[in-house]
Amino acid sequence: LDKTYILAIESSCDDTSASVICNEQILSNIVANQEVHAKYGGVVPELASRAHQQNILPVVEMALKQANITKEQLNAIAFTQGPGLMGSLLVGTSFAKSMALALEIPLIAINHMQAHILAHFIDDANEQKPTFPFLCLTISGGHTQIVKINDYFNMEILGETIDDAVGEAYDKTAKILGLPYPGGPLIDKYAQTGEAVYTFSKPKVKEHHFSFSGLKTGILYFIQKQVKENPNFIEENLENICASVQNTIAEILMDKIKKAVKETGIKQIAIAGGVSANSEIRKRLTNAQKHFGWTSYIPKFEYTTDNAAMIAVTAYQKYRLGLFDDQSITANPRLKV
Ligand code: KG4
Ligand code: ZN
Repeated sequence: LDKTYILAIESSCDDTSASVICNEQILSNIVANQEVHAKYGGVVPELASRAHQQNILPVVEMALKQANITKEQLNAIAFTQGPGLMGSLLVGTSFAKSMALALEIPLIAINHMQAHILAHFIDDANEQKPTFPFLCLTISGGHTQIVKINDYFNMEILGETIDDAVGEAYDKTAKILGLPYPGGPLIDKYAQTGEAVYTFSKPKVKEHHFSFSGLKTGILYFIQKQVKENPNFIEENLENICASVQNTIAEILMDKIKKAVKETGIKQIAIAGGVSANSEIRKRLTNAQKHFGWTSYIPKFEYTTDNAAMIAVTAYQKYRLGLFDDQSITANPRLKV
């Protein structure tokens, strides 16, 4: 059997990542998180691109070393073309282009949002692979979409957020609560020991679209009002506040998936993106298999938040199809699915 080795680079936002794949099997997946952003409550673009420049070479070298592969064994170089931050994308794009040029091997540009979804095709991503067509709820710091996947590179966005992404709702709520960025994982953690005793109104958004900016404002007003009455409100009720926010967000997402299932008749549901690491969403989707007869695809944690393994597996599919790019390719911060 043929073995195809691909090195993939991901640098769309604040994580520098490199991965080596052999067909659909991940040999290495190195992720360097940028801690510089935590104290600013969000990603600072200039700091992100500077950190990518510092990290990219060591991260790539580590990925090759861990995979026990030399540069000369590689069949192709893949990189994230977009969407993302221009300054960040440029670092990975130019690195990949020069490496492919030097090694005289094919270059493959990857759409970050497609890659989040196609991460499900990594050998060890989940127990079974989705079959086409399936629906994917892609939830990250920059996107919230329900996508119908007809084939690897034939995807339709059924609906998306009209304002904030769900990850932003998590991160902004965390900021209100005085928690560092990225706040999603922390809210998830505190929610484990809390109870959803507070209710926040859910947005009314048409069709398959989402909205999260109203929820964020609702949470802000609620907290401000409570803190006025009791300055220690947050500290005394952190777990319950987090559980309540988490519960509301999970309900909003589940309502929309149920609607999409009803309208498309497709009962194969995948989740992808950083927020798909969320325990409540994972739990509800697991339960939906029993309650609604769905087949749920829940990826391993390491393939949910930004990583180069998802870029690598997507590149493998493109490689099989002969979908290569040339040196004229450029980063595209606004690339669509
Ligand atoms: O996909 P990702 O790594 O980067 C983007 O492409 O945006 O997603 C990052 C987002 C952040 O907003 C982070 O707070 C959120 O994913 N996140 C979570 C959890 N883990 C990461 N949100 C809720 N619960 C989690 N466990
Ligand atoms: Zn992402």
